[in-house]
Amino acid sequence: MIVGLVKESYPGERRVALTPAALPLLKKAGLEVIAQSNAGDSAGFPDSEYQAKGAQLVSRNEVLSRSDLLCQVRTSSANPREGRSDLPHFRRGLTVIGLCDPFGDRNAIEALAATGARVLALELMPRITRAQSMDVLSSQATVAGYKAVLLAAGLLPRMFPMMMTAAGTITPARVFVIGAGVAGLQAIASARRLGAVVQAYDVRPAVKEQVESLGARFVQLPLEAGQAEDKGGYAKAMDESFYRRQRELMAKVVAESDVVISTAAVPGAKAPLLITADMVRSMPARSVIIDLAARPGTDGGNCELTKPDETVTVSQNHALVLGPTNLPAAAAQTASQMFARNLTSFLLHLVKDGKLNIDPVDEITRETLLCSDGEIVHPRLRQAPQADRQENLTQRREGAKAQSV
Ligand code: NAI
Repeated sequence: MIVGLVKESYPGERRVALTPAALPLLKKAGLEVIAQSNAGDSAGFPDSEYQAKGAQLVSRNEVLSRSDLLCQVRTSSANPREGRSDLPHFRRGLTVIGLCDPFGDRNAIEALAATGARVLALELMPRITRAQSMDVLSSQATVAGYKAVLLAAGLLPRMFPMMMTAAGTITPARVFVIGAGVAGLQAIASARRLGAVVQAYDVRPAVKEQVESLGARFVQLPLEAGQAEDKGGYAKAMDESFYRRQRELMAKVVAESDVVISTAAVPGAKAPLLITADMVRSMPARSVIIDLAARPGTDGGNCELTKPDETVTVSQNHALVLGPTNLPAAAAQTASQMFARNLTSFLLHLVKDGKLNIDPVDEITRETLLCSDGEIVHPRLRQAPQADRQENLTQRREGAKAQSV
């Protein structure tokens, strides 16, 4: 079986789905790898390293037409504009694995399904113990949490640590992390390492201990959050009155913070609005908000002022609101190493005796199978989910533009 690796074509995407280190494991499982020249270049993996591990270097068209199994960071539905040109090569008999943005652009998912290729969406990987090593959302969120802190630290006009020097005592920066899941916990740990005083809040009370173990203070809000967690340990979407109350209760903490990093997400639902424009205006001068819940082509994330991939400057206090949508690409080498390890574990799970074994009884396979035989087959996605349907997803804003509110 031939595994194909292509260079990512999404604007600004620097990651690569498979690194050279992954190749010997695939070879051992009976898989031959062909790679597009320069596939790993922007992540710091030159062609020579792929060749040294036994990959054959060919053109993009050759990868697409010869592969049985195509590995991508973003398949065409997660890259609707540039990915469209790959679709004529997709066909029955080809299996495509990558991020698919399954709750995103419905037209792009339908176009991908219509090619007849079998598609496995990495976002749909169940968060079960057995699949932990295959969970790219977690590995990439870890990178994003770390990078969000560095981004904020670079923009804030003050340093993070407390310092007692001959030039006086400098008080530490105050960082507030909203949502203490994978990205949030990494943001807490990274901000602590830089010396900031960190506070965090999450609707799931169970994370209090983890927050505290990282040296941060868990903000207690008198909210009825008992209902906010589902059986699987995920946050559930709450009604608007809950979020209104949460915003009111968090206002004071936000007003006292130099940096807010928001990562609050509910699987399959729109990110809750937790920081209003007034809350941003109440923050110290030149404070920084990094909204990780921003999504390309949509309005806002957790903050009312967020514009995906733009820097919004608030005129009253010069606070900056950033909604970077692809921070893992900013640490492309590490992010690719983790992505490739996750993907390799998944491939080794799917391949038996050198052949792909799509077993519908297996939870991991069943949950990730998005398209097959020309149809969208995933039960949650067979019908377009209305709440997540977004138009204009293809009109992605490029680059960071400074803008005054
Ligand atoms: P996660 O599911 O592990 O964590 C999200 C956390 O938010 C959960 O702990 C949940 O309980 C909490 N939460 C939900 N509603 C809340 C509320 N109202 N108030 C406080 N906390 C609330 O998700 P993960 O993997 O940490 O990702 C977080 C976000 O970051 C997601 O939106 C994800 O798409 C995004 N992300 C962004 C990247 C970027 O470059 N911008 C890269 C990777 C992830």
